[in-house]
Amino acid sequence: MPFQTSALPLAQVLQARRDRLAELHPGPVVLWSGQAVARNFPANVYPFRASSHFLYFAGLPLAKAAIHLEGGRLTLFMDDTSPEAALWHGPTPSRETIAADIGATAAYPYPALEAHLAEAATLPAQTREAPHSSPALVNALVALRLHHDDYALEQIEQAAAVSVAAHRAGMAATQPATTEAQVRAAMEQVIMAQGMTCAYNSIVTVQGEVLHNERYHHTLAAGDLLLADVGAEAPSGWASDITRTWPVSGRFTAAQRDIYGAVLAAHDACIAAAQPGVEYRDLHLLACRTLAAGLVDLGLLRGNPDSLVEQDVHALFFPHGVGHLLGLDVHDMEDLGDEAGYAPGRVRSDRFGLKFLRLDRPLSSNMVVTIEPGFYQVPGILGPARQSGQYGDSVNWDRLDAFQGVRGIRIENDVQITPTGCTVLTEALPTRPDAIEALVGGL
Ligand code: GLY
Ligand code: MN
Ligand code: MN
Repeated sequence: MPFQTSALPLAQVLQARRDRLAELHPGPVVLWSGQAVARNFPANVYPFRASSHFLYFAGLPLAKAAIHLEGGRLTLFMDDTSPEAALWHGPTPSRETIAADIGATAAYPYPALEAHLAEAATLPAQTREAPHSSPALVNALVALRLHHDDYALEQIEQAAAVSVAAHRAGMAATQPATTEAQVRAAMEQVIMAQGMTCAYNSIVTVQGEVLHNERYHHTLAAGDLLLADVGAEAPSGWASDITRTWPVSGRFTAAQRDIYGAVLAAHDACIAAAQPGVEYRDLHLLACRTLAAGLVDLGLLRGNPDSLVEQDVHALFFPHGVGHLLGLDVHDMEDLGDEAGYAPGRVRSDRFGLKFLRLDRPLSSNMVVTIEPGFYQVPGILGPARQSGQYGDSVNWDRLDAFQGVRGIRIENDVQITPTGCTVLTEALPTRPDAIEALVGGL
């Protein structure tokens, strides 16, 4: 099992995070792990995933637990497993053992937490359990989790390596497969076999224009493009997020290859430009302009790429942001709304071409972000735009007919910002069309 280990001692990593929290937020903090949710009756539960803020400081996916953090000390509150529970779930480590593993200063049964609640700050999502939702705590957690330590980076790399293997398996499985479901199974099998889980619901679809398509029932036809957005999550909770789009036949048609090239140019431009000090919003706009230029070259758009982007014409085909923060969550810290994604004082634009931008901060070393431009023909966007005449002659609607077989293309990689530029953590998975064709095989 090469993908599950760390050379870094967990307790030491967690202590460093707690010390940093104590500098940023000296007062007491309580964070809860959460617990499994019953599917219908209590003994049959949805897969449990601990709260990411809890995981960041506790390191282990404990359930029905809480931690109290203050001055660099961690106190663990959780009950030992009852003998009845042990009958069904087997023996589990004692509270004291877990406390030692995560470097806790003290550990108590869960009810002892009650005495600390009046004083402690917590997060908005956890106010069900405690009175004090604290903006200062939100700011401190964002400041901490925005940049990843060596342990986190190692875990993200391990998840990314498994995702790369899953995508290779998906491409190799496409020729013998007859349905999206079979390709999905081939991909998730790789993730499961490494003891990992999916960081989000996989998208494996010939309807790539449905951005979060979570159904897998379509059959695969030779002319289809298959869009797969599949990412592994390490047992420690750290995520990865990859999208590739490949031809079911093993060969892109000329039209598919043309549009793929325009999306790839947008992707490559962002990777070349990503470095500390660069505004992520500017990367998004760079992707938009590069894509628009590509679509002008293909005769789909008319005009100057800069002004097409200023008028949001590109967004007819690329309606989402170029990516997001990646960490313990695939859209890291979006449970805090835009507090993590948007620098203080910034708010989301309501412009069509910017409103789905999830990240608007300057990049700095050890942030991890995705770069994921795309091209989609969404009937619900293109139909009304064509009818209304709103975009004048900026779009060559008749030319679109030549690209009917291109429903959705996205190319997504995970990128670590380094002191001098960036490292593509998922670069072992090719993006060039020839290399993609070779991996799919076939003809
Ligand atoms: N997998 C979801 C996303 O790419 O944002
Ligand atoms: Mn993504
Ligand atoms: Mn994705």
